Amino acid sequence: MSETTQANPVFSVRKLWKVFGPKAAKVPGDQAYAGLSAAELRARTGCTAAVRDVSFDVHPGEVFVVMGLSGSGKSTLVRCLTRLIEPTAGSLVMDGEDVLAMDSGRLRELRRHRASMVFQNFGLLPHRSVLDNVAYGLEIQGMGKAERREVAARMVDKVGLEGLGERRPGQLSGGQQQRVGLARALAVDPEVMLFDEPFSALDPLIRRDMQEEVIRLHHEEGRTMVFITHDLNEALRLGDRILLMRDGEVVQLGTPEEIVANPADDYVRDFVRDVPREQVISVRRAMRPAADGEAGTGTALAPGALVSEAIEAVARTGEPARVLDGEKLLGVVGHEQLLAVVAGNGGGAGTSPAEEAAEAAVEDAAEDDSAGADRDGDSASGASESDSGAGDKDSADHGDSDNGKAVAGV
Ligand SMILES: Nc1ncnc2c1ncn2[C@@H]1O[C@H](COP(=O)(O)OP(=O)(O)O)[C@@H](O)[C@H]1O
Ligand SMILES: [Mg+2]
Repeated sequence: MSETTQANPVFSVRKLWKVFGPKAAKVPGDQAYAGLSAAELRARTGCTAAVRDVSFDVHPGEVFVVMGLSGSGKSTLVRCLTRLIEPTAGSLVMDGEDVLAMDSGRLRELRRHRASMVFQNFGLLPHRSVLDNVAYGLEIQGMGKAERREVAARMVDKVGLEGLGERRPGQLSGGQQQRVGLARALAVDPEVMLFDEPFSALDPLIRRDMQEEVIRLHHEEGRTMVFITHDLNEALRLGDRILLMRDGEVVQLGTPEEIVANPADDYVRDFVRDVPREQVISVRRAMRPAADGEAGTGTALAPGALVSEAIEAVARTGEPARVLDGEKLLGVVGHEQLLAVVAGNGGGAGTSPAEEAAEAAVEDAAEDDSAGADRDGDSASGASESDSGAGDKDSADHGDSDNGKAVAGV
């Protein structure tokens, strides 16, 4: 990831606002409103600032997660990216091009070819077959029937719906329907896929399958993704970076590891307090400098290895594990450092002295590694959970929608 982060951002968003309500355009620039909470602003002006002075870049090839509770402005933000919702103020650049200056033709082209959206409620056309639903975006692009059906058939296979191309959406489970939505978005070969809580209507096991599917597709194709969710576990599992929103504002932007290890405020700390830290935090953050004579033995771990792996290694060998960047010894992790990470889990009581020492050591040792967690961290964070399997779980009934709170661990 880190070598791609220098490239032109796919999206570059600066001081973006979306205000709903009377005289909305007056709100962003007015200092009188700047310090007001969302509720105060609503009371004073009748306006809702759904997106409030938001800035971020989405880098090529990353999964950029926007997370927040219901009503925090996620959907508004993602719709602003393609101007399905017109921003009230700020700037928005895609691949170096000013999106706010695009005419309707250019905007149509952006929506049809460059960015495609996957919705929570699937958005399928009920009277069309799976194949024709998947081909829909290509049809709008003007592609001929034979060609688009051929592409669609490939996409149907790609998302694991082999043999179901002639069915109607109503004859599919919820998970299968969302696979159709995924295939339809993929079919146009977009530069970036935008997901607005695509899996929150699915039950937890099927949701897990779909998350695996997204991870697989992302690994295969390296496509840039902006993924909206209210589910912390989903965010931690999928995100290279996570933008955390509250009341339209950015609370924190960072890798999953950064957010769990260094919550920006009490709100975030509370949000992440039940996360098993050893499955998100890497040994790079946990290690201490090696003492004389410690350089030779102990299991060798990469800096991005998770603390959970180190716990296993230290338990097995009974001696501290070494953190190596190639040949170079960065530090060691022993019982004390590992326990400090795990203990940080308890009740938001702050960092222990051992952890602070370890963090200081990390800061010294790893200033060349500010890019943070790598993909290994992400995929490994799910690795210790019981495997729901790659099999066909989609046959389950899709009548229930759950509220996304059922998945306990990361
Ligand atoms: N068209 C609209 N008119 C007025 N208020 C809206 C509109 N759309 C969204 N909002 C408000 O903006 C806020 C953010 O909504 P939304 O972006 O849908 O949040 P999320 O997707 O995070 O649940 C909410 O307070 C919502 O009520
Ligand atoms: Mg929403």
